[in-house]
Amino acid sequence: MIIARTIEALQEAKRQFDGSIGFVPTMGALHQGHLSLIQQARAENDVVIVSVFVNPTQFLEGEDLDAYPRREEADAKICELAGVDILFMPTIDQMYEEDELCIGAPAIRGYILEGEKRPGHFDGMLQVVMKLLNLSSATRAYFGKKDAQQLALITQMVKNYFMDVQIVPCEIVRDEKGLALSSRNAYLSDEEKQRALALSRSLKRATKMVMAGEYDAQTIKAEMLKVLEETDKVEYVAIVDREFNALERVEIGNTIILVAAWVGKPRLIDNIWI
Ligand code: PAJ
Repeated sequence: MIIARTIEALQEAKRQFDGSIGFVPTMGALHQGHLSLIQQARAENDVVIVSVFVNPTQFLEGEDLDAYPRREEADAKICELAGVDILFMPTIDQMYEEDELCIGAPAIRGYILEGEKRPGHFDGMLQVVMKLLNLSSATRAYFGKKDAQQLALITQMVKNYFMDVQIVPCEIVRDEKGLALSSRNAYLSDEEKQRALALSRSLKRATKMVMAGEYDAQTIKAEMLKVLEETDKVEYVAIVDREFNALERVEIGNTIILVAAWVGKPRLIDNIWI
C-alpha cells in the first residue's frame, strides 16, 4: 500500500495502477462501517483509494474539530489489511489555500435537518468531496446511508455539475445491539451507549408500524418521540422521500425515516430506508 501525503505523491501513486478506481473518502478513526465501504470498493474495482482527512471546513465554530478522534497508524493498518492500494492522508495546507472558490449546498435541501442544525456544514462537506473526487479520478465512490442527507447532496452535486463518477450508496453497519457505528461513539460511556440504543429502537418501532399498515407521518413520529425520551435531547425526527422532501405519508420504496438526538457529549444520527 502506498501512503500519499501530498497531491503530487497521490498523482504519482495513481500512475502506477491501471483500471477502474474505487474511492472511499473518510475522516479516519476507521471502524467496521468504513471497512464495509472499503470492502465493497475492493470487490468492485481494480484499484482502491481511501482518504483520511479531518476536513476543517465542515466543522462549525464550537464543534469537535480538535477533539475529533485521530488514529493514523491504526487506520493505515486497517487499510493495508483490507487490500487498499493507495491511502491518501493530506495535510490541511495541501487541500486548501486562502480565499478559495466555494461551492454551496442547495438552498432548501442543504438547509433542513442536519443543514438547519449545522448551517454551513454541508457547504464545507461538498467542497472537500468535490476536491477529493477530482483528485482520486474515481470511477465509483462509496458513501454510507448512515449520513443519508450527505449522500443525497453528493448525488445531487455529481448530477448538477455533470461529474463523471458513480456514487454508490452503502448499507448502515450496526453493532450487535443495533447502535449504528460512528467515530463519535468513542465519546459515549457504557451507560450512554445503553441509552443511545433508543435511536435505533425508535426506527425499529417506526418500521413495525409501517409493516402494520400505519403510514401517517405524524402518528409514526409521535410514537418515535416516546421511545426517544431516553436520550438527553431530540433534535429532529423526520420522514422524507429519497430526495429529502417532507412526506405526510410513508411511500414504500421511497422513504427515509431519520432521527438526531444528543446522548451525553455527542449528537448522534441514525435512519432507516423504507
Ligand atoms: P466519516 O464520518 O469518516 O464517514 C466516511 C464514510 O463512512 C461516509 O460515507 C459515512 O456515511 C460512512 N459511514 C460512517 N459510519 C457508517 C456506518 N455505521 N455504516 C455505513 N457507513 C458508515 O462522512 C464523512 O466522514 C465526511 O463527511 C466525508 C464524506 C469524508 C467528507 O469529509
